Amino acid sequence: MSKIIKIRNLKKNIQQHSRTITILPSCSLSIHKGDMVAITGQSGAGKSTLLNIIGCLDQPSSGQYYLNQHDITDLSCTARSLLRKETFGYIFQQYWLINHLTVVENVELALLYRSGHCRSNREKARNALDQLGILSHAEHYPCQLSGGQQQRASIARAIITKPNILIADEPTGALDHDNSMQIMQILKEINRSHGTTVILVTHDREIAGMCNKRLPMETLFTKKEQLYAQA
Ligand SMILES: Nc1ncnc2c1ncn2[C@@H]1O[C@H](COP(=O)(O)OP(=O)(O)OP(=O)(O)O)[C@@H](O)[C@H]1O
Ligand SMILES: [Mg+2]
Repeated sequence: MSKIIKIRNLKKNIQQHSRTITILPSCSLSIHKGDMVAITGQSGAGKSTLLNIIGCLDQPSSGQYYLNQHDITDLSCTARSLLRKETFGYIFQQYWLINHLTVVENVELALLYRSGHCRSNREKARNALDQLGILSHAEHYPCQLSGGQQQRASIARAIITKPNILIADEPTGALDHDNSMQIMQILKEINRSHGTTVILVTHDREIAGMCNKRLPMETLFTKKEQLYAQA
């Protein structure tokens, strides 16, 4: 199968006061189209930082990022925003639902953003919420939902557009075991039936074991660097 993502010596530094801090040491990885990948590693290892770069939400400080064999490391803001819209779906660690929209409006917004207004959008959004078991909360606001319910709403929003690549940062982090297994079955089904490449971060060995590929962070680092080493 073809490589959908190839990353070489990707590194992220941030500037803190007068110091340059490395928050993602130089790392390399390849992901094939249709893979279901679990990125694992200790807290603070840089998993979310790496995922944000893969999802074109952030840019690396150095290194190369190839998406579908195209070097997208230095794309313009506009081109990156188009990629976000057309290629990726996101499940964020902190959910990032919009507080002043109802749950169903939050999910519908993903369709509006992807392909514009369509009469069937509301029904599709309700179906996605039903699939995730929270249709009864469709008209509630995010602040009226528990953490696990917000997580399921954010998953509905991510999968409704059937993205080519689904980026999921600890998608079961706020869920109990049964709900986690149910979410994983949904992600596996999307992966299988739509060929969606799923890249998820997890601390849970059982969740990682359900993916067809596991990438522990420590195996991705290309140089023996230490987090917080002065660059
Ligand atoms: N904007 C920032 N400013 C300063 N430090 C940052 C910033 N973003 C991330 N970091 C630091 O970079 C490191 C990597 O953060 P990241 O969120 O990628 O870790 P993680 O592996 O996802 O951790 P967790 O498992 O707890 O979610 C952490 O030590 C974090 O404190
Ligand atoms: Mg994280």
